[in-house]
Amino acid sequence: MLTIPEVPKQKKRRSLAVLTSGGDAPGMNAAIRSVVRFGLSHGCRMHGISKGYSGLLEGNITPLESTSVANIIQRGGTILKTDRCEAFFQRATRREAANILIRNGIDGLVVIGGDGSFTGAHLLENETGFPTIGIPGTIDNDIAGTDDTIGFDTAVNTALAAIDRIRDTASSHDRIFLIEVMGRSSGFIGLSVGIGGGAETMILPESQETVANICKTIERGSRRGKTSSIIVVAEGKKPGLSARLARDLWKKGYTARVCILGHTQRGGSPSAHDRLLASVLGASAVAYLLAGKSNAMVGVREDSVVLCPFRKVVGFKKSVDSQMLHLAKALSL
Ligand code: F6P
Repeated sequence: MLTIPEVPKQKKRRSLAVLTSGGDAPGMNAAIRSVVRFGLSHGCRMHGISKGYSGLLEGNITPLESTSVANIIQRGGTILKTDRCEAFFQRATRREAANILIRNGIDGLVVIGGDGSFTGAHLLENETGFPTIGIPGTIDNDIAGTDDTIGFDTAVNTALAAIDRIRDTASSHDRIFLIEVMGRSSGFIGLSVGIGGGAETMILPESQETVANICKTIERGSRRGKTSSIIVVAEGKKPGLSARLARDLWKKGYTARVCILGHTQRGGSPSAHDRLLASVLGASAVAYLLAGKSNAMVGVREDSVVLCPFRKVVGFKKSVDSQMLHLAKALSL
């Protein structure tokens, strides 16, 4: 069960800020709403920082009330906007960021984002002592210390809906389709979408298939009377992998159509699962900060809310479950 940690009675009125950073993910707004309303309900002053760490460095900080986050739980994207901030890699910049927060009377920072965003928060706290806490928000689900991230479920459902449509036309025309999904260097989206969409095979960073093997899979299918094939390709570090594979398949005598789902996976209304996850993690992040815990990320492990120190999160890679890889292979025979 996802239980929100106890909040001890506060001796002084706390003043917290929230920002979103890195790639946006459906459900970030639900997390912002939860952070703000849970904080207000425990007597805190709440603030929103626009455009991630870049906005923080510009002092883009606004007080948020309950009405500021009304009617956003169902909206994709992030009302706070987001950014990937190169300048935050500099130590002096992080010191300046802490000074800005202190000058604005803020005594705790909630960062919603992924590994890069948490690296910034971790260094900020290590170097300046400013309390930070992270909420995992990325469609990639590639963050160590948590089984799930906000946005993953929605992205998988969005990609699945597209695959179902492509399957219709693939089967009408007896075609092979290479469908490229996001996930940078991790195959979580590719694996879930591949299993859920009944793909013939999946090309994942964790289980690279040779072109010869892909051809064998297509041939095996056609011997069983299959006239169309769906191959899910995780983008890997360099988007465009599916186009390169299509060229290689063409050289072996197969014509494959390519469909890159790209940023369609990042937008749209969050699923019920992501709204709930965001609501629980948003409130838990505030509860932990108010209990004096920081320099850590809130996450979910085996259906429980957990607090994982940033030092065990940043720079660590979570790998896809090898059993799921076996399942994917078994089901695509
Ligand atoms: O990290 C989320 C993600 O959507 C990855 O899956 C993808 O590789 C990357 O961001 C794309 O980033 P950008 O929006 O900068 O193109």
